Amino acid sequence: MKIGILTSGGDCPGLNAVIRGAVLKGIAVHGQKFMGYRGGWRGVVEGDAIELPRRMVRGIGKLGGTILGTSRTNPFENGGGPDVIGRHMADLGIDAIIAIGGEGTLAAAKRLSDAGIKVVGVPKTIDNDLDATDYTFGFDTAIEIATEAMDRLRTSGESHHRCMIAEVMGRHVGWIALHSGMASGAHVILIPEQQVSMDQIAGWVKLADERGRAPLVVVAEGFTTDEMQQAHSENGLDAFGRPRLGGIANQLAPELEARTGIETRATTLGHIQRGGTPTGFDRVLATRLGMAAIDSVVDGQWGTMVSLRGTEIVHVELEDALGQLKVVPQHRYDEARILFG
Ligand code: F6P
Repeated sequence: MKIGILTSGGDCPGLNAVIRGAVLKGIAVHGQKFMGYRGGWRGVVEGDAIELPRRMVRGIGKLGGTILGTSRTNPFENGGGPDVIGRHMADLGIDAIIAIGGEGTLAAAKRLSDAGIKVVGVPKTIDNDLDATDYTFGFDTAIEIATEAMDRLRTSGESHHRCMIAEVMGRHVGWIALHSGMASGAHVILIPEQQVSMDQIAGWVKLADERGRAPLVVVAEGFTTDEMQQAHSENGLDAFGRPRLGGIANQLAPELEARTGIETRATTLGHIQRGGTPTGFDRVLATRLGMAAIDSVVDGQWGTMVSLRGTEIVHVELEDALGQLKVVPQHRYDEARILFG
């Protein structure tokens, strides 16, 4: 049997470890052959793939990024679709596909599976917001990077007695902000799931200041206050009537400074959180998921994905992971709030 592997959507530390786990197990246990599609679904649509012999995956588990490249191509667009994909698979001798990606990738995998393409999924995102799996690989690495960055911001903030704001990734959910904020002892954690007012945020910052601390705020990129929600829907100005300067941290900084009188600086971590070498935890999780995807293929569990439940890797329907995001539950935020100020 020959299997095609692709990595799609945003890059994520651990992608190479998944590829390595799948290829090594597939070759060692089942005598399978592998090809790697280049550039995510683009490679699948265009039939652009390279051989993936054992030597190609040697030593890649510790590398960030993806040796196959990635893209945000939709396999149903740009001349794609199940017929074209099936034809290219036949030309390349590929029997089944392992698709490693986030919600968009897995939704496309489900559609292709419904159309008769043999495909299994491996969930991926640093945001940890995919449902039907307890953790996604890449998240732990992002937390390490964000926590280290905030430890550094703290010593700079303490030296100048400034309020420091760190903006982390998380378009829809605040897992990275919550975990890195708790790990670094941030005085305020702001996440999209919890809308709070500027007064409330300024109150927490002042409390930290009164306790003699240099306030440290972590904010997820998707966070908004009531005031901001309103401004977003109006005229492209930020929450405070100024032209938008970019991310949420840059919008919050001048406003917090004005309200608290404490000099404030903003830092956006951006793609630094996605690059570089994965943590040991992510390497192991990603490797196990890659190996489990081989079991799915061998058992013909098309339209499923591998998933972490507790400490075990299980197989769930792709549709269980789609349609809803795994948000930060109220009790987890309440727990973190006890540490504010
Ligand atoms: O989905 C992962 C993620 O890291 C989000 O948190 C972030 O908003 C987005 O990717 C950024 O994507 P891009 O690399 O396309 O700018």
